[in-house]
Amino acid sequence: NKIVLAYSGGLDTSVIIHWLKENYGCEVIAVTANVGQDDELDGLEEKALKTGASKFYLAEIEEAFVYDSIFPTLKAGAVYENKYLLGTATARPIIAKALVDIAKQEGADAICHGCTGKGNDQVRFEMGIKALAPEMDIIAPWRTWDITSREEAIAYAEAHEIPLKITRETNYSKDKNLWHLSHEGLDLENPLNEPKYDAILEMSVSPEQAPNQPTYVSITFDEGIPVALNGKEMDGVSLIKALNTIGGSNAIGILDMIENRLVGMKSRGVYETPGGTLLYFAHEQLEMITLDKETLQYKQELAQKYANLIYNGQYFTPLKQALDSFVDETQKTVTGTVKLKLYKGNMVVSSVESPYSLYSEAFATFDEDDVYDQNDAAGFINLYGLSSVIHAEMKQKVQFG
Ligand code: ARG
Ligand code: SIN
Repeated sequence: NKIVLAYSGGLDTSVIIHWLKENYGCEVIAVTANVGQDDELDGLEEKALKTGASKFYLAEIEEAFVYDSIFPTLKAGAVYENKYLLGTATARPIIAKALVDIAKQEGADAICHGCTGKGNDQVRFEMGIKALAPEMDIIAPWRTWDITSREEAIAYAEAHEIPLKITRETNYSKDKNLWHLSHEGLDLENPLNEPKYDAILEMSVSPEQAPNQPTYVSITFDEGIPVALNGKEMDGVSLIKALNTIGGSNAIGILDMIENRLVGMKSRGVYETPGGTLLYFAHEQLEMITLDKETLQYKQELAQKYANLIYNGQYFTPLKQALDSFVDETQKTVTGTVKLKLYKGNMVVSSVESPYSLYSEAFATFDEDDVYDQNDAAGFINLYGLSSVIHAEMKQKVQFG
């Protein structure tokens, strides 16, 4: 009798309201989660009600998105396939939780989403729903209805007089939030095509368009969490927004990649993650001076696993929780300030400082020192290389390989 719909106001979900009512004959409650998509939120309530929703909710989850998903992922240093900063993947579980909360509150029997049957997002939403409300029915119209393309969805909308913001030319499949903006589809589907950056970019400018002078920015972390920008304390949401502006205007964080989706195919996307790219880079610099070698390198291995868990929708799992505990333990000394210099899409470190720095100039110096005895190295290498010596002597005696 009641269905909660993950509503974006975009093409798919607008069509879905109409389709759900026609096919299930029940009340549709539209839920939009505010994850920082900004102007995309304008007029959504009016539009949802006009296209047939009985009720509209705006779930305010920006803070939860930042503190429960983005920052843990940043602290883990998780990057999918060494490139993608997981902007969409980190948001989906938090949105799923908001959908479940409202569905329970409304006594709804089902949650519906507008993800296609070919992508990652369907998996992420449904993994979240299964973990939080296993009894809830899930409706995924793209997997069952007769509409087979975005073109047909547009035709359906036009036939049923559903108002749309997009035009046929600009209907990239986009996902926008506080952390990133993704672009997929259209000309990007052919890897021979260079992205039309000047037409695509919204959070950032292309390097050609960036200023001719460098910009300095300093970011302060407290136990792995960014807490201040250029010496000014800020909450996470404001800090990311401010860094998006600074990074975006310097062409930082533009990525064009072909990634491996969970469902098997490769897909090509252009991502803008200006603030996030600065935060990852700065956090990594700080870890370089504050983490001991073994912890740093072990953490780098876990980061790949962590990225896969997030990408594949395994946010609400015991392993994810256990990895978070490990990561938090490592972050106890990741406190300090990193100053970066940005110029036309590039960033370099200007300085790093931490009260917990393990970097010792006294030990590292090429000049004279009084803490390190170079004679110790000879004995160390004799034992370290002993197995190599024994192996080499064996090879000199017998015919080998
Ligand atoms: N390929 C990226 C990911 O899997 C971005 C997906 C964007 N989603 C969307 N509904 N437009 O995380
Ligand atoms: C979709 O297919 O709904 C968007 C892309 C994705 O989920 O990977």
